[in-house]
Amino acid sequence: MPDPVTFRPDDPAFLHDPYPTYRQLRETDPVHFHAPWNAWVVTRYRDVDALLRDKRLGRVMDGVEKRPANPDHAPFDRIQAGSLLEIEPPDHTRIKTAVHEVFTPKHVRALGERIEALAARQADALAARIEEDGRADLIRVFAEPIPVTVIADLLGVPEADRHRLLPWSKGIIQMFEPERTPEQEREAVDAARDFAAYVRWLAARKMEAPADDLISRMVGVREDDPERLSEDEMVANAILFLNAGHEAVVNVLGNGVKALFEHPEARAALQDDRELLPRAVEEMMRFDTPLQFFERFALEDLTVTGDDGVERHFEAGTKFALYYASANHDAAVFEAPERFDVRRHPNPHVAFGLGVHYCIGAPLARLELTRAVDALLTRLPDLAPAESTYAYVPKNVFRYLEALPVGRA
Ligand code: HEM
Repeated sequence: MPDPVTFRPDDPAFLHDPYPTYRQLRETDPVHFHAPWNAWVVTRYRDVDALLRDKRLGRVMDGVEKRPANPDHAPFDRIQAGSLLEIEPPDHTRIKTAVHEVFTPKHVRALGERIEALAARQADALAARIEEDGRADLIRVFAEPIPVTVIADLLGVPEADRHRLLPWSKGIIQMFEPERTPEQEREAVDAARDFAAYVRWLAARKMEAPADDLISRMVGVREDDPERLSEDEMVANAILFLNAGHEAVVNVLGNGVKALFEHPEARAALQDDRELLPRAVEEMMRFDTPLQFFERFALEDLTVTGDDGVERHFEAGTKFALYYASANHDAAVFEAPERFDVRRHPNPHVAFGLGVHYCIGAPLARLELTRAVDALLTRLPDLAPAESTYAYVPKNVFRYLEALPVGRA
């Protein structure tokens, strides 16, 4: 019998590099009960895939609290209540249909040139900062401004207010981490309240003077038929777009450029053949997945046979932590999963999730990532890490670097 795996999600060594633990879990305990979270940790690809497609599971369940009830969290909970990520069909279908109407492939395509120009501008800004100081943080100077500007453009956030988006977003996402402090919870509640007040104010302005942006179009859907989208739902989903629309893109850029630095042969291949870019971007998302896991709840009593052939029974309300990051390293699906392979094809990673909650922003994220990496390779072909080690922010759900100091070789 192999040794039982120790799953200690608060261990700094795990947070620095969780992939060896995922491998052990997949091999020895693929459906592992983690008592502190009262959740089953699911790490094999086929199990994650099957549970994401299973309509008997959802992100929310009536009567089951995701977090201990806390009246101080009311402003946060009110906002979350209308978010696509917190509801299930039929309400989820109603809202997702409305959102798909105002955020179409045409709207994404229309952003292509703007994104290309932005990526070039930020690559030049990075080059200038390196020229001045000898080094620069790729995350702050390059990776953050691109998706923040794109999502702010898309939603119609005025230039003068954009600097407020990142701090609000960073504040809110703290609530999604299982290992969080009361101080972080307070910051999340404050950020949610201020962000919601801002979006309400902005929506009121768009009502008076609509423009060609997503918030104006959402306001339009409400004006045509208020039954389709309540005001709270509009606010909640505008906030979701503003957060989801940049956090993960920034994190893929950081984690992905780090992977390129650590795999010079992959980088050289990409430098020589830009046709590989779309595959390279998928590989960046697979290799160091920015959103490591998401929760699901059993909406009814379940009996499921796992990939290991074991039949398991779960009561309604059981919580699962589905590890997309581990699924993306499962050797049963990905050949040599620890190899960073910019030619990998097919690459059926689950970094965008699957099923009902599949990421709405996937086409936009792909467009931003390919344009951003292209601009870096073209404008800074001699980009090099300025330090030999990298520090990840010690979080369980969001995986991203504190900073990525770079210079020129
Ligand atoms: C590389 C970048 C991105 C990654 C890795 C990513 C990942 C994800 C994942 C994993 C989910 C599903 C969560 C679950 O399974 O519970 C999701 C949902 C979502 N994402 Fe993304 N995302 C990215 C970029 C974006 C962008 C650019 C936008 C907006 C323009 C966006 C908007 C959304 C929305 C609205 C949902 C909720 C969908 C629903 O619940 O029906 N995402 N994303």
